[in-house]
Amino acid sequence: MSHGPATPLTARASGPLTGIADVPGDKSISHRSLILGAMAVGETRVTGLLEGQDVLDTGKAMQAFGATVTRDGDTWVVRGVGVGGLMEPEDVIDCGNSGTGVRLLMGAAATHDFAVTYTGDASLRKRPMARVTDPLALFGAVAHGRSGGRLPMTIVGAADPVPVRYATPVASAQVKSAVLLAGLNAPGETVVIEREATRDHSERMLRGFGAQIETRDTPEGREITLLGRPELRPQTIVVPRDPSSAAFPVCAALIVPGSDVLVPNIGLNPTRAGLFQTLRDMGADLTYENPREEGGEPVADLRARFSPDMQGIEVPPDRAASMIDEYPILSVVAANATGTTIMRGVAELRVKECDRIDAMATGLRDCGVTVRDGEDWWEVDGRGPGGVTGSATVAVHLDHRIAMSFLCAGLASAQAITVDDAGPIATSFPIFRPLMTALGATLTD
Ligand code: S3P
Repeated sequence: MSHGPATPLTARASGPLTGIADVPGDKSISHRSLILGAMAVGETRVTGLLEGQDVLDTGKAMQAFGATVTRDGDTWVVRGVGVGGLMEPEDVIDCGNSGTGVRLLMGAAATHDFAVTYTGDASLRKRPMARVTDPLALFGAVAHGRSGGRLPMTIVGAADPVPVRYATPVASAQVKSAVLLAGLNAPGETVVIEREATRDHSERMLRGFGAQIETRDTPEGREITLLGRPELRPQTIVVPRDPSSAAFPVCAALIVPGSDVLVPNIGLNPTRAGLFQTLRDMGADLTYENPREEGGEPVADLRARFSPDMQGIEVPPDRAASMIDEYPILSVVAANATGTTIMRGVAELRVKECDRIDAMATGLRDCGVTVRDGEDWWEVDGRGPGGVTGSATVAVHLDHRIAMSFLCAGLASAQAITVDDAGPIATSFPIFRPLMTALGATLTD
């Protein structure tokens, strides 16, 4: 889905941010709840679902594939069609801005005997899909897309799928999940090997739905084995809140003088929590309160206070997968720290909703920050607390995380920062503006 005309938004230096930030449900887990719910037999009930545009688009797609997705008060109800039971959609599947949505759906449908055409917005139509269609071809699916393996693309599903053994060439949970979802409707064992562990929500949830799935660490990396054609049993799912959304109020509190913010109930799955470790390594006053387990995922309340003594660090490259979506907001914290922050092994940032290294480097430079970058690395020279000049309008390139990162930057900069379009924020964090305003942020049209 494309959104309407661009809506600029401006952030200015704000008084202390204080209070409780109830951020929405986890985007990754929300997509998976709808997709696996649609592939189970019976009624899956989901609370805490992220009602962002990306997830709503996946819900619409699951309906097009024959499932029923309805909202009953606070609960989303998915009536599934069973493994192998997806039906040929009548029309093009439009995944809007969502790489996760389209790649997981491509996987789920690829081992069904019909063709599906996928498209998305101008951002998604630029993103590489060969990383998913290459392994899907091993199952017997055939993809016809635009040059460079881009959308719109039609995938003719395998009539007689065979199971696959695949080592992912890029650290990508989307690729891993697409292969596992395709493997659901292939006979025998589908195996995915990943050199670096990426978010494991698909594995955890498949297990919860009753699939036989095993993970073991080998010299080649993490090996995941799924037995095909299980009967998935419907589940009751409580979606934890999204650590990638929590990152924004947390980081804003760290850089705005006097702040003290509590962000309750945040999923701290180790494959997602790399940013918080990095912030603590930089000297952030960030604590985990009340750590516990909910729905098979570790959860805690995050408390972030203004941290004027943060130091730049070299972020360990092997932590990249566990904080891949958080580098944009980390670079804003880095700009408000002392010394240089070095981020290596992050080529994947160039193929997200936009080229995130380029978008952040360009915008930060316009705000008076020195940034150096290369194909798979970048460095930000900290200007110390409150040292970012601001006084710039930055382009967000249809990328929600670029928009939110610069709005957080503007809350601590000397002069205002405007983002050219706040619309994309609705894909993952529709309540960002009221939530930040309630904490004390100054955000104006
Ligand atoms: C996601 C995986 C990551 C991440 C994206 C969500 C997922 O992408 O950037 O926001 O839910 O599987 P990659 O798999 O491309 O790294």
